[in-house]
Amino acid sequence: MHGVTKHINDLVASRRSVLGGLAGLPLLNLAGCASTPADHALSETPATLGFTSVAATNADTITLPAGYRWRTVIAWGDALFDGISAEFDPDALTRGEQEQRFGQSNDMLALFGSEYAFPPPKDQDGMILCANNEYASLELAYPSLPSPQNLTAGQVEALYAAVGVSIVELEHDGAGWRALRNSAPRQGRNRRITPFTPVQFTGPAARHPWILAASRIVNECEPNRQEGAVSCGTVANCAGGQTPWGTYLSAEENFDGFFSGSSSDLDAARREGALALDESSFGYPNGGPEALAPRQFRVAENPHGPSLYGWIVEIDPYDPTSTPKKRTALGRKKNECATTALAADGRVVVYMGDDQRNEHVYKFVTHSHFNPSNRDANTDLLDDGQLYCAQFLENGGGRWLAITADAANAAAAAKESPIRFADQADVLMRVRDAARLLGATPMDRPEDVEAVCDGNCRGLGPVLIVCTNNSERGFERPGNPRRDSARPSSAQNNLPGHILRIDEDGGDCAAERFSWDVFAMGGDPNASELTAQVRGGGAPAHISTKVAGEETITGERFACPDNLFIDSTHRVWIATDGNDAVFADCNDNVLATTLASAGPRQIKRFLVAPVGAEVCGPLMAPDERAFFCAIQHPGANNAEGLDFAQSRWAGGGRPPSNFPDGGNAWPRSAVIVVTREDDGRIGD
Ligand code: FEO
Ligand code: CA
Repeated sequence: MHGVTKHINDLVASRRSVLGGLAGLPLLNLAGCASTPADHALSETPATLGFTSVAATNADTITLPAGYRWRTVIAWGDALFDGISAEFDPDALTRGEQEQRFGQSNDMLALFGSEYAFPPPKDQDGMILCANNEYASLELAYPSLPSPQNLTAGQVEALYAAVGVSIVELEHDGAGWRALRNSAPRQGRNRRITPFTPVQFTGPAARHPWILAASRIVNECEPNRQEGAVSCGTVANCAGGQTPWGTYLSAEENFDGFFSGSSSDLDAARREGALALDESSFGYPNGGPEALAPRQFRVAENPHGPSLYGWIVEIDPYDPTSTPKKRTALGRKKNECATTALAADGRVVVYMGDDQRNEHVYKFVTHSHFNPSNRDANTDLLDDGQLYCAQFLENGGGRWLAITADAANAAAAAKESPIRFADQADVLMRVRDAARLLGATPMDRPEDVEAVCDGNCRGLGPVLIVCTNNSERGFERPGNPRRDSARPSSAQNNLPGHILRIDEDGGDCAAERFSWDVFAMGGDPNASELTAQVRGGGAPAHISTKVAGEETITGERFACPDNLFIDSTHRVWIATDGNDAVFADCNDNVLATTLASAGPRQIKRFLVAPVGAEVCGPLMAPDERAFFCAIQHPGANNAEGLDFAQSRWAGGGRPPSNFPDGGNAWPRSAVIVVTREDDGRIGD
């Protein structure tokens, strides 16, 4: 099937070969194409990059331009409530403690005004911060643990509880934004949602037989039950989004890693049939400490357990008693994000990237309209709508293909595939298979997808899609399809990644057609060589930022873009995950460029993270005088690229970072806030 559907790299290449010879055509700037409503909006708000670019560094701190400062807002283990010790002892972590403390490995961030209003007012004295806690890192936990063999089941359960979502109230005082503790759970908005929290499944796949089978086992395992709910909570919470009606969307990504089992366990589970079907899409580990994982996360005990994850979870941050809802209408995949925009007629559009090599980009369009005057009327909007996958065409156009059982079964029959879908629930459960059959374009690990919106959440038409990288290139093509290369006829990886721009037809995010172009290539615009040795000695990275002889960026080099934030002046803030694996002289960082600029796009470096950390969840307060981001897994590797996961258990001693507490402190994932010393707008 891959042979039939063109990879995005083929399309980039072939489009370049068609357009590259046409002198003067603005290849990399769609503002040069037919005028759209977005172009007018963009030209009215010319963005500048009014700061001095930060030099590359491996410093173990936050490095910022002159005139900017940072502080920690909250970090792993900080108490959310008064009833527990304000001091965090990572060696004493228990499930009960972790259920009242900020989670580990913070990723996506979202901010909500302390009282719901639409559109959100610019001035806020209080906000609610929602943060994803993507995964639990054993090597960065339990400082006194001598070896993984010494782990107890209780310690493993506590690590599971470190995952999910953390919600915390913020207050702006004279010194800036700070996190608040509540007196007790449900006495304010602070909250932890973990893999043990009761959630509801809603939408067409809510009663899929796999979900029903797994739910019975989960609810047998968990004492923390709620009528009509499943105590499976949420895991692998990567990026997400926020809705115009003031709810948080948390995207479940690499859920497969939470399931353990030996090869024989998996063989037994495969005989159930469902696992074998699911495994072809997601794969499951052939090992792991199955004896220690909570029972519901052992595939031998709960072979349908993975069907409970890979969904978009909607959470009401204003009601700490609300039950999170898994919106099955949006499909099950390794969701990086779930970002929203309003269509021209007020329907709601949710964009999603499925972050794995050669997976797809999706969007969901609701059947009903957003109601700005009655928040409750929007409660179940995401249960009813149409899911689409993106197909990129060689001529620079693109199509959103509706994913339905009939269409997927017809495509399977036409391709003589044995795959069939019983109904729409089955399509949503195995949506990757359906998208592939329908002809969705395989992508280089699509991560964040961000629509350019006006102040009323209405999409203007441009949408940026981040493809973080692709380490595998299994084919040869003449003429260098991907980027200018020293060996144009060889198969080529895409280790630095790239960013695409699509423009929805008519400036309407509900459109079924779009045009596309390359927004920026990761890599080094100043390199004298077209490839570079990567840290660790793998295949060299192709680092040219030119495509068909045309330069896409100027200024700073970067690799592995991951999450984006687009501010009100249409500056684009790019957070990286893995920059140091390609360009070892600089930790992961945040860069900025502008949406509307013509020609090669200027890139400035705004922030460099501490050693071993990735940067996630960039966003600003509504007044754009505070920039927030999540510093995830500081100390996961050292500046030479050695993973602490390997070195710690080989007698490697302390982690290579002490962020954010400094001194000799154990490192912790943390949310930070950046402000200007003169309190001006970020980036001006
Ligand atoms: Fe969780 Fe795709 O990053
Ligand atoms: Ca990510």
